[in-house]
Amino acid sequence: MAMAQDELKRAVARAAVAHVPADCIVGVGTGSTANFFIDELGKIKHRIRGAVASSEASAKRLQGHGIEVVSLNDAGSLPVYVDGADEITRHLHMIKGGGGALTREKIVAAASRKFVCVCDASKLVDVLGKFPLPIEVIPMARSYVAREIVALGGQPRLRAGFTTDNGNLILDVLGLSILNPVELETALNNIAGVVTNGLFARRPADVLLLGTENGVQTLTA
Ligand code: A5P
Repeated sequence: MAMAQDELKRAVARAAVAHVPADCIVGVGTGSTANFFIDELGKIKHRIRGAVASSEASAKRLQGHGIEVVSLNDAGSLPVYVDGADEITRHLHMIKGGGGALTREKIVAAASRKFVCVCDASKLVDVLGKFPLPIEVIPMARSYVAREIVALGGQPRLRAGFTTDNGNLILDVLGLSILNPVELETALNNIAGVVTNGLFARRPADVLLLGTENGVQTLTA
């Protein structure tokens, strides 16, 4: 199963390379599927100028392939951002942040003209929320934010022993059936102390490359 799933991830990572224009700086996500994409980028590194990474882990892997990692402030607007997701709908709304890199992912995605999501078929869902929704919080606000989330109907759990690249905590929220992701994303953003929530709905993906048994399917919103 894991092997087969890895093959699907590798297939979508390969397909994503076609969305990378020549001589560009490419936005790169985080996670096991993004890692396959980084490995594919390594093969075409002479065709790109560099990459902006959404995590320290991805930056390290890019550098390991000899790809120059550029800060977002120096890169400006990016033509494309390629990343995985924990769940995605046919509207290309996503839950992200299983790896805890959601804040930098949302920033790099926001600064990119096209978001290409790369997933194996297990990530496609009708309704978001089975996967616990990650929320990055400022440490002193943890308890307050948790109470506000309970008031919204969720069950927050502190991700034990985890600190984000930005020095913050993650609450993983169970029990939400997210019928209106755009509205919930906004409501969560309005809680004081929330840095970022893992709903990527106000800025959904533009293209989904979905790895299936029958090959890579391309979905657009
Ligand atoms: C990282 O913070 C996440 O948003 C990842 O994009 C997501 O968890 C997907 O990771 P996998 O490709 O490992 O499933």
